Amino acid sequence: MQMTKPDAMAFDPAEIKKLFPIFSSHPQLRYLDNAATTQCPAAVIQAVDLHECQSRANISRGIYPLAEEATEAYHQARNMLAQYLGAQDASEIIFTSGTTGAINLLANAYAVDLKEGDEILLSLVEHHSNLLPWQILSRRTGVKLRFLPLTADGRIDMRSLHRLVTERCRLVAVTHASNVTGAVTELGPLIDAAHSVDAAVLLDGAQMAQHGPLDINALGVDFYALSGHKMFGPTGIGLLWGRRDLLEKLAPPFGGGGMVHRVTIDSFEPAELPARLEPGTPPIAQAVGLAAAAAWLMELDLKAVESHLYHLTGRLLDGLNNFPGIKLIGPSDLYQRLSLVSLDLAKVHPHDLSQIFADRGIAVRGGHHCAEPLMRFFGLMGTTRVSLALYNDETDIDALLLAIEEAQRILI
Ligand code: ALA
Repeated sequence: MQMTKPDAMAFDPAEIKKLFPIFSSHPQLRYLDNAATTQCPAAVIQAVDLHECQSRANISRGIYPLAEEATEAYHQARNMLAQYLGAQDASEIIFTSGTTGAINLLANAYAVDLKEGDEILLSLVEHHSNLLPWQILSRRTGVKLRFLPLTADGRIDMRSLHRLVTERCRLVAVTHASNVTGAVTELGPLIDAAHSVDAAVLLDGAQMAQHGPLDINALGVDFYALSGHKMFGPTGIGLLWGRRDLLEKLAPPFGGGGMVHRVTIDSFEPAELPARLEPGTPPIAQAVGLAAAAAWLMELDLKAVESHLYHLTGRLLDGLNNFPGIKLIGPSDLYQRLSLVSLDLAKVHPHDLSQIFADRGIAVRGGHHCAEPLMRFFGLMGTTRVSLALYNDETDIDALLLAIEEAQRILI
C-alpha cells in the first residue's frame, strides 16, 4: 500500500527525547529496536505511578470510594482507547495482555463455532502471533489454513486473492504492517474479497499502532489487535477491537470472575460486552498507562513525526544501498513501508552484526523476528532489523552506518 508522502516539516527529536527518562539513565543509548518495544515517555510512567499510589484497588467489585475510583479510571482508559481507534462504542474495546493475547482470544472464541472444512486465510508474512493461534485452532477443529503468497520483495501478493477467498472462508487474518519488511498491507481488495463471502477481517496492528490514531470504521475491518508496549505504553496490556455485532456473537472462550451475570454449578450466563470477554482482574494500571500513551500520541503533530521518520528511513536506505554485500529486505519504495528496515549482510550472522552494534551502544534486533515462514521465503535464517521511532535522529543513523563499515572490516 502506498502511504502519502508528507510535506517536509520541522521537528526536533532532541526535545522529544527529553520526555523519555530511559535516555537520561542511558545517555549513550542509540535505541533502534522500536518494532520490538518502544520506550515510555514520562507522562505514561507518571500516569501508572499516580494510579498505583492514589487509586489502586480492584475494579467492578467493591463499593468503597477507592474501588469506585479505580473502576472509573479503567472505564476512562477504555474510552480513551476507543477515541484512539475512532470506535464509537467503547464496549467494542476488549483489553488483553497484548496483540498475542488478543489474537489468541479471538482464535479460541472462533474455535467454538468453526467446523472441519471451514477456512481461515493468512499470509506468509505473518508474525508467529498471527499464525500459531490459528494452527492450534486448526488442530482442534479441522479448519483449513490457506496462505496468501508474497511478491519478490515480501509484500502480500493480492493476485491470487479471488482463488484463495472461497465460500468456506470465515476469516482473513493478516498484518497491517510487517514487523520484518515494514511493508504496509494493501487493504481495499482484501476487505472486499473477504466481505463478498461474509468472512470477517482481522488486522494485526502491532506495528502500526505507534503511528497515531486510527479511523477504524473507515479502515473497514472487523477486528483489530494491538499492543501497548509498541505504542509508548506499558507492557502486559493491549486490546482486541471488534465490531459490536461480531463480538456479541462470540461465546466467551475463557471463564472467571467479573465476566458473568449468574452462575450455577453447571452453567453460567455471561455478562454484557466488554466484561464477558475479560475474565479475572484485568491489567488496571497498565490500561491507565496505555490510555496515557494514546492521549500523549494524540497531542503530537503526527504529520511532522511522519515526515521526520520518512526522512530518517530514507537516509538509512540510501546509506545501506552504498554498502556492497548488503541485501535490503522489503519494498524499495520508501512510501510502501514503515520506518523499519531489515537487512542481510552477506557472510555475517545477524547475531554477530547485532553484537557489533551492541558493543557500540546501538540496540537492534537480529534473528528471525518470530516470522520463520517469511525467513524461509527469503532463504535466510534471520535478518538484522533497524526500527525507528520519533526520538531517533540522524546521528543514530550515521552511527549505525559507521558500525556496519566496522563490522565489514572485522567480520568479513
Ligand atoms: N513482535 C516483536 C518484534 O517483532 C517482538 O520484534
